[in-house]
Amino acid sequence: MKRDRWSSRTIFLFAAIGSAVGLGNVWRFPYLAGKYGGGAFLIPYILMLIVLGIPLLILEFAIGQRMQLGAVGSFKKIKHKLSGVGFAAVFCGFIVCSYYTVVMAWSVLYLIFSPTTAWGEDTKTFFLQKVLHTSAGASEVGHIVLPILFALLICWLLIYFSIWKGVRSVGKVVTVTMPLPAILLIVLVIRGITLPHSGDGLEFYLKPKLDLLFNKEMWIEVWTAAASQIFFTLSLAFGIMIAYASYKHETSDISKNSIIIAVTNSAISIVAGLAVFSTLGYMAFKRGVGVSEIAASGPMLAFDVFPKALSLLPLAPLFAVLFFVMLLTLAIDSAFSLVEAVATVVHDRHPHIRKQDISMYVCIAGFACGIIFTSFAGLYYLDITDHFITTYGLVAVGLLEVIVVGWLYGAEKLRSYINEVSEIKIGRWWSVLISVVIPILLIGLLVFSFYNDITKPYEGYPRWALWVFGWGMLIAVFLLSALLSVCSRKEEKEAE
Ligand code: PHE
Repeated sequence: MKRDRWSSRTIFLFAAIGSAVGLGNVWRFPYLAGKYGGGAFLIPYILMLIVLGIPLLILEFAIGQRMQLGAVGSFKKIKHKLSGVGFAAVFCGFIVCSYYTVVMAWSVLYLIFSPTTAWGEDTKTFFLQKVLHTSAGASEVGHIVLPILFALLICWLLIYFSIWKGVRSVGKVVTVTMPLPAILLIVLVIRGITLPHSGDGLEFYLKPKLDLLFNKEMWIEVWTAAASQIFFTLSLAFGIMIAYASYKHETSDISKNSIIIAVTNSAISIVAGLAVFSTLGYMAFKRGVGVSEIAASGPMLAFDVFPKALSLLPLAPLFAVLFFVMLLTLAIDSAFSLVEAVATVVHDRHPHIRKQDISMYVCIAGFACGIIFTSFAGLYYLDITDHFITTYGLVAVGLLEVIVVGWLYGAEKLRSYINEVSEIKIGRWWSVLISVVIPILLIGLLVFSFYNDITKPYEGYPRWALWVFGWGMLIAVFLLSALLSVCSRKEEKEAE
């Protein structure tokens, strides 16, 4: 059967950038930068981008494009037993997708609240009590919150219809969902920096605090934060970039595309920070508090602090609508890239099943798994799952990828393929990074995080919750992946 193809190089770039640019750029990066050194955070961030991000992105594109298969098939082609690496990648991706879409569902609700800025003055209580119905602790599951469930269903329908025809429909959708949020972001930046006292916010965000980078107590934290942000923001280790590259022709460029995608993604992160912090500067001035007191990350930034800031603006409803449309359009192409990565793997294995049907099953499964995050304790479960999957799942899969390519397939062999097809030739340094530097870096990252989590249980959550949504889930992912790789090997042997 002929493999689907992107309709053009631009469309592929749009899709890959769309996957990379997401919530991570708007609510994760600005906060990390503000907290870990301001402008100085750009030093570890850019260094990690060069040492870790771009080489890994090149690696994933090269594998997918060379093997012309999704994550599982690609690793299997390298060596039979290694299909487990691909399984682990898509499982991790699937889990991320199940909660990422719940955050999208909150954004849908906030979009509905925007025309009347229904969150009022006390945005925190509104978010936690009125919207999420958050219970007192992780052990109080409570019920499902129906409006969130309904919004989640809408998100999954949107996702399904974006990908139902595979890369052909993805190609059409990304022509809107990639540029639109970028334009909205520019509007929000202009609005932000023309507000009085926006400079205070920008100073907090950008003023270099160089000492933090080398401070005895902080430096490990700062550098690991930079490394894990690079992983998350470039959508690495989920099998997404492998799947997307497998729909390119075997002779398409790799290294130049990777650099374009990585640079655009980081530029959007930095610009997003301008929008966020200029507006926070204005809010801090209006409320007579310091910017550092109101700076927050994650859900709290998008659904507590930022709505509060938006309410203070002239034409608040308009900017609120723009902000949540931006958030949704940013997130949707990241979400469907995850579904596409899973669907690609299933379709590679069962080419006789229609891709449309596979995508539908993946969406139904994703929706079903997301339901737990719509419960009263959903926010806690989401937080725990996110912490464990991003600090361990991702990094562990990344580590396996570099070990497989560096030590089993041969980094030099892959490099010569990359150079054969790419405009920009890469030197031996790439192979050294892949086989030596990155493995050491990632092992260090894993050990450090593990030590942290063992000595201080994450956010003081109850043990059972950390086990179910954290350690247990990770163990299940990796065991199941190993099991599946053994089973598929057996099946094939029998078929022979
Ligand atoms: N890269 C996306 C972001 O920054 C997040 C993402 C994670 C997308 C995992 C896909 C998979 O928000």
